[in-house]
Amino acid sequence: MEKENFKIVIVGHVDHGKSTFIGRLLYDTDSIPPDKIEVIEQVCFELGKPLEFAFITDQIREEREKGITIDTTQIFFYTDKRDYVIIDAPGHKEFMKNMITGASQAEGSVLVVDANEGVKEQTRRHAYVLGLLGLRENIIILNKMDLVNYSEETYNAVKKEISEFYKSIGIAATYVIPVSAVVGDNIATKSEKTPWYDGPTVIEAIDSLKKHDDIENAELRFPIQDVYNIDGKKIVVGRIESGQIKDGDQLFLHPGKREVTISEILEFGHEKHSADCGESTGVTLQGASDVKRGEMLSGRNSSPIETTKIHGTIFWMFPMPIKVNQTLAFRCNTQEVPCRIAVIKKRIDSSTSALLEENATTLGETEVGEVIIETDQPVLVENFLDIPELGRFVLEWREIIVAGGVVTG
Ligand code: GTP
Ligand code: MG
Repeated sequence: MEKENFKIVIVGHVDHGKSTFIGRLLYDTDSIPPDKIEVIEQVCFELGKPLEFAFITDQIREEREKGITIDTTQIFFYTDKRDYVIIDAPGHKEFMKNMITGASQAEGSVLVVDANEGVKEQTRRHAYVLGLLGLRENIIILNKMDLVNYSEETYNAVKKEISEFYKSIGIAATYVIPVSAVVGDNIATKSEKTPWYDGPTVIEAIDSLKKHDDIENAELRFPIQDVYNIDGKKIVVGRIESGQIKDGDQLFLHPGKREVTISEILEFGHEKHSADCGESTGVTLQGASDVKRGEMLSGRNSSPIETTKIHGTIFWMFPMPIKVNQTLAFRCNTQEVPCRIAVIKKRIDSSTSALLEENATTLGETEVGEVIIETDQPVLVENFLDIPELGRFVLEWREIIVAGGVVTG
């Protein structure tokens, strides 16, 4: 049987041990080729250091980044149960951008907190983004337990602080695990130094995170990417974001809820009889004479939200602050329309989640806003928590992405 894939994002404050932790995970799960370990051992030996696990991660990152432009590094490791993809963003801003714009579609998260230093600004900022995205599968590791003598008291105090913050932003962690990434405590095997801890190891914990693929059984959402005229046929292509299609399906074409029927399903010129969630495919339709990019097919039982007024939460990531009513472009999936932020209901500090102002008129870099966006033409969206791919958008100013956001209503 083919193993399941699972994407995990590793976040945490600078120097709290993300790279070391990732290196340790790779090492303990035998996910690194032996020749690579030898090179790293040699380097550490020459430096007169013990094996430095952060080197493993950072070496892999360097190799991956050669020649290709990427914002996030993807690292792979394997347990008996799954193949994992680790998303490790190089910097804070990239992280925010990738998470909110959807470049990294994380299914679960591991937050690394230095038990000695406790919760820091970036710990909060990262957690805030996890909350904004409604990530449901999270664990927290309290790292560097060796520096606090594996103290249960310290563990409890930091656990309380971070758990309360999680709660305030509407998320929860399944487990809070005391570890030492350097020593290897509670990563792959249970540590004798924390007899007071009776939870799972990190590997057991991540293997227990759930995959949410309920979207495959949800109602059809087929955003239209392009329409081609080939041999007198009008072929409508796109990616099925939820649900599935089959020959003869009676659907709605939005906007306007026009009644259409699928005549043929075509993939690279071959005819097939059905297509599933996640597939990019082409169809020909009966009853759709003027179909175009940006429109969407749905089943007849439920339609996407069609509106010119979007309630959402955005993360402003551009140095220039935005003012209400300035013209921007709203981009969601295959749609792009002029828009403006009509109302900033709340202006929020992303590092503390503190409310800075109600009914604000501007939003500055790294600030979060609960906003109402007005578009020039109707757009088709979904609540982010229902269908993430259609509930996530970016705002552009002169073709630069200046904010990412999620639709909340
Ligand atoms: P950035 O990438 O700069 O954000 O840092 P990071 O979070 O990746 O931290 P990194 O893994 O580079 O570790 C920072 C420092 O903490 C290094 O000197 C590590 O050796 C040390 N460190 C990491 N984990 C542990 C641990 O469990 N115990 C101890 N004593 N030191 C650790
Ligand atoms: Mg690092």
